[in-house]
Amino acid sequence: MPVELNDTVPLSWKNATGDNETMLQHLQPNILKGHVRDRLHILLLQFGQGPEATAAARAFLAALVPLMKSAKTGLEEAEAFKQHGTKGTPYVGVGLTNAGYARLGLTSAAPSDPVFQRGMRDPQSLANLNDPDPTQWEPGYQQEIHAIVLVGDADSLPANTRLGEVKALLNDSITVLAEETGKTQHDDAGRAIEHFGYVDGRSLPLFLTEDLDAERDTMDGTSVWNPFLPLGRVLVADPAAPDPTTDFGSYFVLRKLEQNVRAFKAAEEELADILKLDNHDRERAGAMLVGRFRDGTPLTLQAQAGAHKPVMNDFTYASDTAGRKCPLQAHIRKSNPRGSGGFETPEEERLHLLARRGQTYGERTEGDQPDSGVGLLFMACNSDLGQQFEFVQRRWADNPGFPRHGTAAEPGLDPVTGQGSRPSQTWPQAWADNETQEAPAPEQTVTMKGGEYFFMPSLPFLRSL
Ligand code: HEM
Repeated sequence: MPVELNDTVPLSWKNATGDNETMLQHLQPNILKGHVRDRLHILLLQFGQGPEATAAARAFLAALVPLMKSAKTGLEEAEAFKQHGTKGTPYVGVGLTNAGYARLGLTSAAPSDPVFQRGMRDPQSLANLNDPDPTQWEPGYQQEIHAIVLVGDADSLPANTRLGEVKALLNDSITVLAEETGKTQHDDAGRAIEHFGYVDGRSLPLFLTEDLDAERDTMDGTSVWNPFLPLGRVLVADPAAPDPTTDFGSYFVLRKLEQNVRAFKAAEEELADILKLDNHDRERAGAMLVGRFRDGTPLTLQAQAGAHKPVMNDFTYASDTAGRKCPLQAHIRKSNPRGSGGFETPEEERLHLLARRGQTYGERTEGDQPDSGVGLLFMACNSDLGQQFEFVQRRWADNPGFPRHGTAAEPGLDPVTGQGSRPSQTWPQAWADNETQEAPAPEQTVTMKGGEYFFMPSLPFLRSL
């Protein structure tokens, strides 16, 4: 059976046979499902020029393969951990940029997505995304990046050891342009949070039967919001691999997003003051920026935090079309309107969903509110960068007119990730209240420090180099 990219029935990895089984053995982990990466190292590499450097770059990539594992092994290890607590092996992931393919002498075999081909530093990409000029990016990201290597594990020791093994394979013709270190942050209850203090990584598209079953049976269910996406929204036949019918990859976005925690906390307070929210209701101000309370409780479901076991994800905005509970501009509503985005069909809207694989970076101490040096290494897997990542940032987050609702005022920018001029916004005075109040938009507290588009190729491709 060929790999069905548009199948409306999810793939069971445990029962996969034939081409599906081979695909899972040839695919990198962290694409169909996030690999555990509480400790994450990222190397951004530049290959040298000339025949010798090309050979050295190819040799380096091929030598990485024994340190890597397949998606299948990654899934088996995750299952063994779930069943018996057996720890898995570190994750090593590799991606190449369009310029990277060229340095390997593979220009004509490079993946064809036009957004991938032009890269994130291209003027067209910068304009589409309202990104700061690359001269303001961190130095490593201002250079031409050719490859990314990710090394992740649940614990720091195995991650560090594996990183050392990867570095030992580097040779003189390869320059490390930047090195990032990601580390999961936790709240008091042990939940993974981002630096503004909100539970993150809960709502993700699911591609596999086993993950959908677990979501339905062990979480809050899938009766209202269906997290299933077909494989074709994340997998792309690897054009440079020996057998594109079984060898797949994915387009991978990396964006280093610095978070000004102090300014965000001030924005939460300011909005609470403007709306004159009293004690127990003040936390709703931040929830209106994000769309969830800090403990993950969806604002459209509850006026207060507290629904956090498990963090809920089985919801839509069907009973809140005007944004009287969760404002239309809230980050999670802009990034996934769950059927309220004004599209002709739900399928059209779902084409824009993307598999986030991010990790927080930067150290901080309890109660500390840094204005720089911490943030999110935003990462996501896509099959179509223009329809997924770029669409969400450009047409949703940065678009003051999205989502449109009747004659209501334009929602304005996504208060968390929006880039561009920020018109004032209206907010419901009380939860589920028809009375709204206009207020200046919160200032931008997330700053893009650099990024790039990669393709995560299949293992047979890397082995063939
Ligand atoms: C520093 C920057 C960012 C922060 C602090 C942030 C924070 C969050 C938080 C707290 C959630 C809720 C947790 C969850 O539903 O899983 C979330 C969800 C989400 N974010 Fe972000 N995010 C950031 C950047 C981005 C970017 C750049 C994008 C895409 C362009 C994005 C897309 C999404 C999506 C699609 C969801 C899930 C929405 C849903 O399905 O309901 N985020 N984010």
